[in-house]
Amino acid sequence: MDNFTFWSPTKFVFGRDTESLTGNLVKQFGGNRVLLVYGGGSVVRSGLLDRVKKSLDEAGVMWEEMGGICPNPTDDRVYEGIDMVRDHKIDFLLAVGGGSVIDTAKAIACGVPYDGDFWDFYCGKKVVEKALPVGVVLTIPAAGSEGSGNSVITKKDGLIKLSLRTESALRPRFAVMNPELTFTLPQYQTGCGIVDMMAHIFERYFSNTPDCETTDRLAEGLLTAIINEARKIMADPYDYEARANIMWSSTLAHNGLCGTGRAEDWASHFMEHELSAIYDVAHGAGLAVVNPAWMSYVSRTNPAKVAQFAIRVMGVSPDNRTETEIAEEGISRLKEFYRSIGMPVTLGELGIDSPDFERLVAKLHEHKGNPIGSYVKLSPADTAEIYKMML
Ligand code: NZQ
Ligand code: ZN
Repeated sequence: MDNFTFWSPTKFVFGRDTESLTGNLVKQFGGNRVLLVYGGGSVVRSGLLDRVKKSLDEAGVMWEEMGGICPNPTDDRVYEGIDMVRDHKIDFLLAVGGGSVIDTAKAIACGVPYDGDFWDFYCGKKVVEKALPVGVVLTIPAAGSEGSGNSVITKKDGLIKLSLRTESALRPRFAVMNPELTFTLPQYQTGCGIVDMMAHIFERYFSNTPDCETTDRLAEGLLTAIINEARKIMADPYDYEARANIMWSSTLAHNGLCGTGRAEDWASHFMEHELSAIYDVAHGAGLAVVNPAWMSYVSRTNPAKVAQFAIRVMGVSPDNRTETEIAEEGISRLKEFYRSIGMPVTLGELGIDSPDFERLVAKLHEHKGNPIGSYVKLSPADTAEIYKMML
């Protein structure tokens, strides 16, 4: 196991009706004037936004609002938010929604105290030193942004989707997590979230660092729980306990715990970010296409960990077969599972009929360098082949 620092200071407040505590939580973390950030309307239709506003009013917290954040959020709304925060002397960002809303709030939070362009942080020119505090009321278990120090924004000019990773500066001060809020999710979005949280575990699990039994077993346990609970949600979307288990899994998948003491990979995420930047597909759906193709490709040269996943999580029995054969059966079971939760597993099923492979590969390596990944280091020739395996 490698040396590591694990710093996860978010206060998680989990369970039924917890959104009524939002105002007090904002106060507890020093907020007096809040910018409420939310998405395209689900929180308005469900009545959640009104309940959150009531909680803020009761706690004596002033608020302004900025709605209409789209999935795969873009830089234009961040600039707008930075102006609003400065004009209204806002001191706290409150995201009510999923990854897209939270990531926009985080981008605003680090952009406000900085004199230059907030994009400097995303393209790696500057490191975030200061940020306004961010709080979250989570409505979709998926991106894990409620417990991560990360934010992913797309620059409209050039469709450049980049992730910013901070150790603690952008970790939310608190995250309110009421599983009942996820009852209104369309099945497709539930499925996307499930794939995304599994992918966050894969990026850490597929590692060459030896002797990480604790985090291997944590990852395998989480993956097993996610698959089992996902099946229950597909059968009954109003199953509170299954929704609760999935919601907590999404946080544990991405708050850094599963990556402690080991090299991480992230090539699949980088490959997906190019797909969602150019074709505006849902991140989780994109990963359902990328992950199996990536696993098949890396199993050609480094099958050990994929075979371990196949046996321990997907229930494949070794039967004197080679590791590559075992890995392949695990991958095919994974695809079957994705299909069973309504997810695409090919680019065509994702709605991308004529992918521009050259552009995808060129952008990928321009943004992320050469090679990418760690479990198997991938050159442009490798990533071109992986994209083609998604057809
Ligand atoms: O916009 P509204 O109307 O709210 O609808 C949203 C949106 O259309 C809907 N939704 C959310 N909660 C709902 C609901 N509909 C009904 N009932 C509810 N309770 O779901 C749709 C998707 O929302 P979005 O926030 O885009 O989903 P997600 O949480 O999957 O976030 C995706 C974004 O996060 C980034 C992705 O790349 C993508 O841009 N990621 C962020 C990460 C991070 N910050 O750590 C890590 C991830 O790997 C990921 O890259
Ligand atoms: Zn993800």
